[in-house]
Amino acid sequence: MSRVYNFSAGPAVLPEEVLSEAAAEMMDYNGTGMSVMEMSHRSQAFQEIIDTAEADLRELMNIPDNYKVLFLQGGASQQFAMIPMNLMKHGEADYIVTGQWAKKAWQEAQKYGKANKIATSEDKTFSYIPDCSDLPISENADYVYICENNTIYGTKYKELPNTKGKILVSDVSSCFLSEPVDVSKYGIIYGGVQKNIGPAGVVIVIIREDLISDDVLEGTPTMLKYKTHADAGSLYNTPPAYGIYICGKVFKWLKKQGGLEAMKERNEKKAKLLYDYLDESRLFKGTVEKKDRSLMNVPFVTGDKELDAKFVKEAKEAGLENLKGHRTVGGMRASIYNAMPYEGVEALVTFMKKFEEANL
Ligand SMILES: Cc1ncc(COP(=O)(O)O)c(C=O)c1O
Repeated sequence: MSRVYNFSAGPAVLPEEVLSEAAAEMMDYNGTGMSVMEMSHRSQAFQEIIDTAEADLRELMNIPDNYKVLFLQGGASQQFAMIPMNLMKHGEADYIVTGQWAKKAWQEAQKYGKANKIATSEDKTFSYIPDCSDLPISENADYVYICENNTIYGTKYKELPNTKGKILVSDVSSCFLSEPVDVSKYGIIYGGVQKNIGPAGVVIVIIREDLISDDVLEGTPTMLKYKTHADAGSLYNTPPAYGIYICGKVFKWLKKQGGLEAMKERNEKKAKLLYDYLDESRLFKGTVEKKDRSLMNVPFVTGDKELDAKFVKEAKEAGLENLKGHRTVGGMRASIYNAMPYEGVEALVTFMKKFEEANL
């Protein structure tokens, strides 16, 4: 077996322990004589899988009892529509646009009501998080929307915006479970799992119960109502069962690592190694404001497109995969999610140092 260090932004690296366990259970899950892929979602075995996954997630994130945990499909992008359809009671919401995913969410929301862009960092290619301490929050806004970690640009909110009492909705796709959060500060906290938690196909929505109702935009499809899924314990229809099973295994793995405090420490240590090198390098440089740096996605450039391409190619040959930056921004990006070991970042930095020596 030969594994590479996979720096993909998503789908992304998963803990090897989880993959090995899943492989061992492929032919016969827990004495059932079948794989979880082949199992009825109405079976007792699957009910236990989803119940345990939810309980472990609640424990990891310390989710208050007045929040529902939903395992849905449609990716994070489907939430761009579901959120306004379910929450825009007054037909208005405020969006802080800090990258392409926030922009897409804002654009989608415009189909369903008045979506105000109340702040943006687009003036400097989304390389920072705007000051959100005193924004012009709209009186009629039903919620304020953010993308907490900007996967493409590598920025992260270090402080949540002052929503002036409005409900906060946050896309945490690329920082999910990377550090502790105070769930009670959010109305909805959600993310696609394919970066930090599991295989693509599952989106987890943690939603305050009072935001779940039948009072949704007229014409909202049954499948796009939070209430449909909340009432059915995420089993209204066939759920992404195998994906949920893998997420459950990752939750167990996270608990074994010491939970989110321990993950934060590990993630800070990994990110520091890379950022410290970027700060001293004469060839590579980080592209975002230091105060807003993400612990998960680290973009960097040499300033020369051809050299960037050479780096990506040679890194791949050295077993360091998926370091190419997002197609819309170029350069490089190392995604160093929970399951990326410290040794992976060490290997990357060692390789970068050698490349710098050879190419300066
Ligand atoms: C922060 C963020 N939000 C949303 C998305 C879109 O996710 P999906 O492809 O699951 O719709 C991504 C995907 O990369 C992302 O990074």
